[in-house]
Amino acid sequence: MDRANGYEEHADTFMRSRHPHIGQKIADEWGRGFTPGATVLELGCGDGVVSQVLVDAGLTLYGVDASPTLLRAFRERFPGVETECAAAEESTYFNRTFDGVVAVGLIFLLPESAQRIVLTKVANALKAGGRFLFTAPREACTWVDVLTKRESRSLGVEEYEGLLHGLGFEVSSGRVDEGENHYFFAVKG
Ligand SMILES: C[S@@+](CC[C@H](N)C(=O)[O-])C[C@H]1O[C@@H](n2cnc3c(N)ncnc32)[C@H](O)[C@@H]1O
Repeated sequence: MDRANGYEEHADTFMRSRHPHIGQKIADEWGRGFTPGATVLELGCGDGVVSQVLVDAGLTLYGVDASPTLLRAFRERFPGVETECAAAEESTYFNRTFDGVVAVGLIFLLPESAQRIVLTKVANALKAGGRFLFTAPREACTWVDVLTKRESRSLGVEEYEGLLHGLGFEVSSGRVDEGENHYFFAVKG
């Protein structure tokens, strides 16, 4: 079974086709809101496109990805960054605490029950005032991932915000990047 929801099977195609900069601007601005050295957990880090700006911002990054091939590429790019090859919903990094958690292009790949588990684990792993950034379409919808041909699903802004509020987050208005990806910004109370 591909714990990476099809991304291990299609890892090489993903690395060839993933735009090298989309998402970096928003992640860079988000990352520069931390003091250098702050700890950030990146779920579904892939081969490190978003990670690049977080490392460049001087953050102490921890990368998790379920695709061994993508994580191998990540490790070659960032030999000094701690990583774990695991499904996000089972990551042992959730036994630690972080100043920030980021998940770009991941949450909607997971079944709804796993999305709820991950959001809860993120809430528990964040320090007070810790910040969470993730992407998912604003609208509640399902669609077929163009790369993997598997179903993705967004719970939609109302459901995500309700869940986040219930977990003790404050949610600020979202943003959209150059690739039309919607970002949720949440701060743990
Ligand atoms: C759309 S890619 C995004 C990668 C990276 N965040 C980026 O922006 O380039 C989705 C990533 O999530 C990973 N992934 C999929 N399911 C996962 C899971 N259950 N746990 C951890 N990573 C997973 C894939 O291997 C892939 O690296």
